[in-house]
Amino acid sequence: MKVLILGGTGEARRLAAVLAGRPGLEVVSSLAGRVRAPALPEGQVRIGGFGGVDGLEDYLRRSGIAAVVDATHPFAAVITESAVAAAERVGVPLLLLRRPGWVEGADDDWHWVRSLDEAASALHEIGGERVFLTTGRLGLAAFAGLDEHWFLVRSVDPPEPPTPKRMGLLLARGPFTLPGERALLTEHGIDVLVTKDSGGEATAAKLQAARELRIPVLIQARPAAPPVPTVTTVDAAVAALTTHGV
Ligand SMILES: NC(=O)c1ccc[n+]([C@@H]2O[C@H](COP(=O)([O-])OP(=O)(O)OC[C@H]3O[C@@H](n4cnc5c(N)ncnc54)[C@H](OP(=O)(O)O)[C@@H]3O)[C@@H](O)[C@H]2O)c1
Repeated sequence: MKVLILGGTGEARRLAAVLAGRPGLEVVSSLAGRVRAPALPEGQVRIGGFGGVDGLEDYLRRSGIAAVVDATHPFAAVITESAVAAAERVGVPLLLLRRPGWVEGADDDWHWVRSLDEAASALHEIGGERVFLTTGRLGLAAFAGLDEHWFLVRSVDPPEPPTPKRMGLLLARGPFTLPGERALLTEHGIDVLVTKDSGGEATAAKLQAARELRIPVLIQARPAAPPVPTVTTVDAAVAALTTHGV
Protein backbone atom coordinates (compact mmCIF):
# COMPACT_ATOMS: atom_id res chain seq x y z
CA MET A 1 0.00 0.00 0.00
CA LYS A 2 1.31 3.44 -0.92
CA VAL A 3 0.69 6.61 1.07
CA LEU A 4 1.49 10.13 -0.11
CA ILE A 5 2.43 12.68 2.53
CA LEU A 6 2.30 16.28 1.38
CA GLY A 7 5.05 17.70 3.52
CA GLY A 8 7.33 20.61 4.27
CA THR A 9 6.68 20.56 8.04
CA GLY A 10 8.13 18.86 11.11
CA GLU A 11 4.90 16.89 11.55
CA ALA A 12 5.18 15.54 8.01
CA ARG A 13 8.74 14.36 8.70
CA ARG A 14 7.75 12.72 11.98
CA LEU A 15 4.80 10.97 10.33
CA ALA A 16 7.03 9.70 7.52
CA ALA A 17 9.49 8.36 10.11
CA VAL A 18 6.74 6.41 11.91
CA LEU A 19 5.14 5.04 8.73
CA ALA A 20 8.40 4.25 6.94
CA GLY A 21 9.06 1.40 9.38
CA ARG A 22 5.75 -0.37 8.70
CA PRO A 23 5.93 -3.61 6.71
CA GLY A 24 3.96 -3.61 3.48
CA LEU A 25 3.70 0.16 3.40
CA GLU A 26 5.39 2.50 0.93
CA VAL A 27 5.63 6.13 1.98
CA VAL A 28 6.29 8.95 -0.45
CA SER A 29 6.82 12.43 0.95
CA SER A 30 6.34 15.38 -1.35
CA LEU A 31 8.14 18.71 -0.95
CA ALA A 32 7.50 21.88 -2.91
CA GLY A 33 11.20 22.57 -3.42
CA ARG A 34 11.15 26.06 -1.93
CA VAL A 35 14.03 25.56 0.51
CA ARG A 36 17.53 25.12 -0.90
CA ALA A 37 18.65 22.40 1.51
CA PRO A 38 15.44 20.91 2.95
CA ALA A 39 15.38 18.58 5.95
CA LEU A 40 14.58 15.33 4.16
CA PRO A 41 12.02 12.88 5.56
CA GLU A 42 12.60 9.13 5.82
CA GLY A 43 11.33 6.97 2.98
CA GLN A 44 10.89 8.06 -0.61
CA VAL A 45 10.89 11.76 -1.40
CA ARG A 46 9.74 13.63 -4.50
CA ILE A 47 10.37 17.35 -4.92
CA GLY A 48 8.50 19.98 -6.95
CA GLY A 49 4.95 21.01 -7.76
CA PHE A 50 2.56 18.54 -9.41
CA GLY A 51 1.09 21.01 -11.88
CA GLY A 52 -2.14 21.98 -10.15
CA VAL A 53 -5.13 19.74 -9.46
CA ASP A 54 -4.85 17.94 -12.81
CA GLY A 55 -1.19 17.16 -12.22
CA LEU A 56 -1.82 15.87 -8.71
CA GLU A 57 -4.76 13.80 -9.91
CA ASP A 58 -2.55 12.28 -12.59
CA TYR A 59 0.21 11.60 -10.05
CA LEU A 60 -2.19 9.87 -7.64
CA ARG A 61 -3.49 7.60 -10.41
CA ARG A 62 -0.11 6.79 -11.97
CA SER A 63 1.58 6.10 -8.63
CA GLY A 64 -1.26 3.99 -7.24
CA ILE A 65 -1.59 6.11 -4.11
CA ALA A 66 -4.06 4.54 -1.64
CA ALA A 67 -4.28 7.44 0.82
CA VAL A 68 -3.08 11.04 1.07
CA VAL A 69 -2.06 12.91 4.20
CA ASP A 70 -1.89 16.66 3.77
CA ALA A 71 0.65 17.61 6.44
CA THR A 72 1.61 20.89 4.80
CA HIS A 73 1.97 24.19 6.64
CA PRO A 74 -1.33 25.83 7.74
CA PHE A 75 -0.60 28.74 5.35
CA ALA A 76 0.06 26.51 2.33
CA ALA A 77 -3.53 26.90 1.15
CA VAL A 78 -3.05 26.28 -2.57
CA ILE A 79 -1.62 22.78 -2.28
CA THR A 80 -4.29 21.92 0.32
CA GLU A 81 -6.99 23.00 -2.11
CA SER A 82 -5.38 20.87 -4.83
CA ALA A 83 -5.20 17.89 -2.49
CA VAL A 84 -8.89 18.11 -1.61
CA ALA A 85 -9.95 18.33 -5.27
CA ALA A 86 -7.55 15.67 -6.60
CA ALA A 87 -8.29 13.15 -3.84
CA GLU A 88 -12.00 13.57 -4.46
CA ARG A 89 -11.60 13.03 -8.21
CA VAL A 90 -9.52 9.89 -7.72
CA GLY A 91 -11.61 8.62 -4.80
CA VAL A 92 -8.76 8.15 -2.33
CA PRO A 93 -9.08 9.10 1.34
CA LEU A 94 -7.49 12.39 2.38
CA LEU A 95 -6.48 13.19 5.94
CA LEU A 96 -5.47 16.68 7.01
CA LEU A 97 -2.76 16.82 9.68
CA ARG A 98 -2.78 20.35 11.00
CA ARG A 99 -1.25 21.57 14.24
CA PRO A 100 -3.50 23.85 16.33
CA GLY A 101 -3.04 27.60 16.12
CA TRP A 102 -1.52 29.63 18.94
CA VAL A 103 -3.77 30.91 21.71
CA GLU A 104 -3.61 34.46 23.01
CA GLY A 105 -3.10 34.76 26.77
CA ALA A 106 -4.15 37.45 29.25
CA ASP A 107 -0.67 39.04 29.19
CA ASP A 108 -0.47 39.20 25.40
CA ASP A 109 -0.95 42.24 23.21
CA TRP A 110 -1.87 40.56 19.93
CA HIS A 111 -3.43 42.27 16.94
CA TRP A 112 -4.98 39.89 14.41
CA VAL A 113 -4.72 40.68 10.70
CA ARG A 114 -5.93 38.76 7.65
CA SER A 115 -3.02 39.45 5.34
CA LEU A 116 0.53 40.76 5.31
CA ASP A 117 -0.71 43.89 3.53
CA GLU A 118 -3.02 44.46 6.49
CA ALA A 119 -0.09 43.85 8.84
CA ALA A 120 1.96 46.46 6.97
CA SER A 121 -0.86 49.03 7.32
CA ALA A 122 -1.37 48.16 10.99
CA LEU A 123 2.29 48.94 11.75
CA HIS A 124 1.42 52.65 11.45
CA GLU A 125 -1.25 52.34 14.15
CA ILE A 126 0.82 50.21 16.52
CA GLY A 127 3.83 52.54 16.27
CA GLY A 128 7.38 51.50 17.08
CA GLU A 129 10.27 51.68 14.66
CA ARG A 130 12.04 48.33 14.98
CA VAL A 131 10.11 45.34 13.67
CA PHE A 132 10.95 41.64 13.96
CA LEU A 133 9.47 40.00 10.85
CA THR A 134 9.07 36.20 10.94
CA THR A 135 6.52 35.77 8.17
CA GLY A 136 8.88 34.02 5.75
CA ARG A 137 10.99 35.33 2.91
CA LEU A 138 8.17 35.28 0.34
CA GLY A 139 5.90 37.92 1.87
CA LEU A 140 8.39 40.77 2.23
CA ALA A 141 7.02 42.84 -0.65
CA ALA A 142 4.18 43.98 1.62
CA PHE A 143 6.73 45.76 3.84
CA ALA A 144 9.04 47.03 1.11
CA GLY A 145 7.76 50.61 1.05
CA LEU A 146 7.83 51.20 4.81
CA ASP A 147 11.03 53.22 5.04
CA GLU A 148 10.21 54.66 8.46
CA HIS A 149 10.70 51.20 10.00
CA TRP A 150 13.78 49.01 10.43
CA PHE A 151 13.09 45.28 9.96
CA LEU A 152 14.89 42.28 11.37
CA VAL A 153 13.95 39.57 8.87
CA ARG A 154 14.44 35.94 9.84
CA SER A 155 14.14 33.30 7.14
CA VAL A 156 15.63 29.96 6.13
CA ASP A 157 16.93 31.15 2.76
CA PRO A 158 17.77 34.72 1.68
CA PRO A 159 14.78 36.73 0.44
CA GLU A 160 14.55 38.14 -3.05
CA PRO A 161 13.58 41.74 -3.87
CA PRO A 162 11.44 43.64 -3.23
CA THR A 163 12.53 43.79 0.41
CA PRO A 164 12.42 46.63 2.97
CA LYS A 165 15.11 49.26 2.46
CA ARG A 166 16.20 49.29 6.11
CA MET A 167 16.63 45.64 6.99
CA GLY A 168 18.82 43.23 8.92
CA LEU A 169 18.80 39.59 7.78
CA LEU A 170 19.06 36.56 10.02
CA LEU A 171 19.25 33.22 8.22
CA ALA A 172 18.06 30.57 10.65
CA ARG A 173 15.83 27.52 10.87
CA GLY A 174 13.83 26.60 14.01
CA PRO A 175 13.40 25.30 16.61
CA PHE A 176 14.19 28.46 18.57
CA THR A 177 14.66 28.66 22.34
CA LEU A 178 13.17 31.14 24.80
CA PRO A 179 16.56 32.46 26.01
CA GLY A 180 17.61 32.90 22.38
CA GLU A 181 14.44 34.73 21.40
CA ARG A 182 14.56 36.91 24.50
CA ALA A 183 18.16 37.90 23.69
CA LEU A 184 17.31 38.57 20.06
CA LEU A 185 14.40 40.90 20.85
CA THR A 186 16.44 42.75 23.46
CA GLU A 187 19.68 43.07 21.51
CA HIS A 188 17.91 44.42 18.45
CA GLY A 189 15.66 46.75 20.47
CA ILE A 190 12.56 45.27 18.85
CA ASP A 191 9.33 47.28 19.27
CA VAL A 192 6.89 45.04 17.34
CA LEU A 193 6.78 41.38 16.28
CA VAL A 194 5.03 40.42 13.03
CA THR A 195 4.26 36.74 12.54
CA LYS A 196 1.75 34.23 11.18
CA ASP A 197 -0.36 31.92 13.30
CA SER A 198 1.75 28.92 12.32
CA GLY A 199 1.21 27.15 15.64
CA GLY A 200 3.49 24.47 17.08
CA GLU A 201 6.27 24.43 19.63
CA ALA A 202 9.26 24.97 17.35
CA THR A 203 8.67 28.68 16.77
CA ALA A 204 6.46 29.59 19.77
CA ALA A 205 9.27 30.95 21.99
CA LYS A 206 9.23 34.36 20.27
CA LEU A 207 5.64 34.83 21.48
CA GLN A 208 6.61 34.05 25.06
CA ALA A 209 9.59 36.42 24.78
CA ALA A 210 7.31 39.17 23.36
CA ARG A 211 4.86 38.56 26.24
CA GLU A 212 7.61 38.93 28.84
CA LEU A 213 9.02 42.06 27.22
CA ARG A 214 5.51 43.51 26.63
CA ILE A 215 6.09 43.77 22.90
CA PRO A 216 2.93 43.95 20.73
CA VAL A 217 2.43 41.22 18.13
CA LEU A 218 0.80 41.56 14.73
CA ILE A 219 -0.36 38.06 13.90
CA GLN A 220 -1.79 36.89 10.59
CA ALA A 221 -4.82 34.61 10.95
CA ARG A 222 -4.79 31.28 9.12
CA PRO A 223 -6.65 30.63 5.93
CA ALA A 224 -9.76 28.50 6.48
CA ALA A 225 -9.13 24.76 6.59
CA PRO A 226 -11.18 22.59 4.22
CA PRO A 227 -14.00 20.44 5.64
CA VAL A 228 -12.15 17.10 5.48
CA PRO A 229 -11.20 14.61 8.22
CA THR A 230 -8.61 16.42 10.32
CA VAL A 231 -6.21 15.48 13.11
CA THR A 232 -3.82 17.72 15.01
CA THR A 233 -1.04 15.31 16.03
CA VAL A 234 1.16 12.73 14.37
CA ASP A 235 -0.12 10.03 16.76
CA ALA A 236 -3.71 10.81 15.80
CA ALA A 237 -2.76 10.68 12.12
CA VAL A 238 -1.22 7.23 12.57
CA ALA A 239 -4.34 6.06 14.42
CA ALA A 240 -6.64 7.43 11.71
CA LEU A 241 -4.61 5.78 8.96
CA THR A 242 -4.61 2.49 10.85
CA THR A 243 -8.42 2.66 10.97
CA HIS A 244 -8.32 2.93 7.16
CA GLY A 245 -6.20 -0.24 7.00
CA VAL A 246 -2.90 1.55 6.32
N1 LIG B 1 3.49 28.97 3.67
C1 LIG B 1 4.27 28.89 4.75
O1 LIG B 1 4.30 29.80 5.60
C2 LIG B 1 5.15 27.69 4.93
C3 LIG B 1 5.93 27.60 6.08
C4 LIG B 1 6.73 26.46 6.29
C5 LIG B 1 6.71 25.45 5.36
N2 LIG B 1 5.93 25.56 4.25
C6 LIG B 1 5.94 24.45 3.28
O2 LIG B 1 6.44 24.96 2.08
C7 LIG B 1 5.73 24.40 0.97
C8 LIG B 1 5.26 25.51 0.07
O3 LIG B 1 4.40 26.36 0.81
P1 LIG B 1 3.52 27.45 0.07
O4 LIG B 1 2.84 28.25 1.12
O5 LIG B 1 4.32 28.11 -1.00
O6 LIG B 1 2.43 26.49 -0.62
P2 LIG B 1 1.15 26.83 -1.52
O7 LIG B 1 1.06 28.28 -1.75
O8 LIG B 1 -0.02 26.14 -0.93
O9 LIG B 1 1.49 26.05 -2.85
C9 LIG B 1 1.95 26.67 -4.05
C10 LIG B 1 2.33 25.59 -5.02
O10 LIG B 1 3.50 24.91 -4.57
C11 LIG B 1 3.41 23.52 -4.83
N3 LIG B 1 3.46 22.80 -3.55
C12 LIG B 1 3.23 23.28 -2.31
N4 LIG B 1 3.45 22.35 -1.38
C13 LIG B 1 3.84 21.24 -2.05
C14 LIG B 1 4.24 19.96 -1.63
N5 LIG B 1 4.30 19.62 -0.34
N6 LIG B 1 4.60 19.05 -2.60
C15 LIG B 1 4.56 19.40 -3.91
N7 LIG B 1 4.20 20.61 -4.35
C16 LIG B 1 3.84 21.52 -3.44
C17 LIG B 1 2.10 23.32 -5.57
O11 LIG B 1 2.42 23.40 -6.94
P3 LIG B 1 1.53 22.68 -8.07
O12 LIG B 1 0.25 23.45 -8.14
O13 LIG B 1 2.38 22.75 -9.28
O14 LIG B 1 1.28 21.26 -7.59
C18 LIG B 1 1.26 24.49 -5.12
O15 LIG B 1 0.26 24.86 -6.01
C19 LIG B 1 4.62 23.54 1.54
O16 LIG B 1 4.98 22.21 1.35
C20 LIG B 1 4.55 23.90 3.00
O17 LIG B 1 4.24 22.79 3.82
C21 LIG B 1 5.16 26.65 4.02
